[in-house]
Amino acid sequence: MYNIAILASGSGSNAENIIRYFKEHATIRVAEVLTNKSDAYVLERAAKLHVPARVFNKEEFTSPSFSERLIREGITHVVLAGFLWLVPQHLIAAFPDRIVNIHPALLPKFGGKGMYGGKVHESVVAAGEKETGITIHLVNEEYDKGIHLLQASCTVVADDTADTVAAKVHDLEYEHFPRTIENWIIQTQS
Ligand code: GAR
Repeated sequence: MYNIAILASGSGSNAENIIRYFKEHATIRVAEVLTNKSDAYVLERAAKLHVPARVFNKEEFTSPSFSERLIREGITHVVLAGFLWLVPQHLIAAFPDRIVNIHPALLPKFGGKGMYGGKVHESVVAAGEKETGITIHLVNEEYDKGIHLLQASCTVVADDTADTVAAKVHDLEYEHFPRTIENWIIQTQS
């Protein structure tokens, strides 16, 4: 069995979609949801779906005991689904090539520190981009710089707003993220 820990900072609609996708899976399951925000809606989604969840603070996250606990719990893969903080070195060392992130734009465009959720889409619209999309990538020490596993795109038209772009991008995320996670886990283990 492969056990995923999902890290999320906000609403958690991707987290919910991933949990649902793996609910009946033969070899992969979402074992827990971890968040840095005590009021994140992802906590309610996890509770509703009967997935254990807990909140952590910066001190806990930056301590190697955070990774040690995940390993003790049997976590094999870490999925960042709308997670805001830079991943500390100890976590990357404990899960080499076993941490994946989704970014709501076509990296390397609109990536880097501070580029999160709505801000990304506002920047895409302000720049007059004709397309945007998603990038699913492995995580290393720098924001948004790891190897790409998948990119998918959608058009941006003249009357699109940050909100309408967000909706298109979310649709791409729901379609591709769980399947990409599944393929990644299966391929890296065989
Ligand atoms: C998603 O669009 C995800 O790509 C983005 O945050 C949103 C979270 O939505 N992640 C980033 O911007 C990371 N830099 P959700 O909480 O509804 O899944």
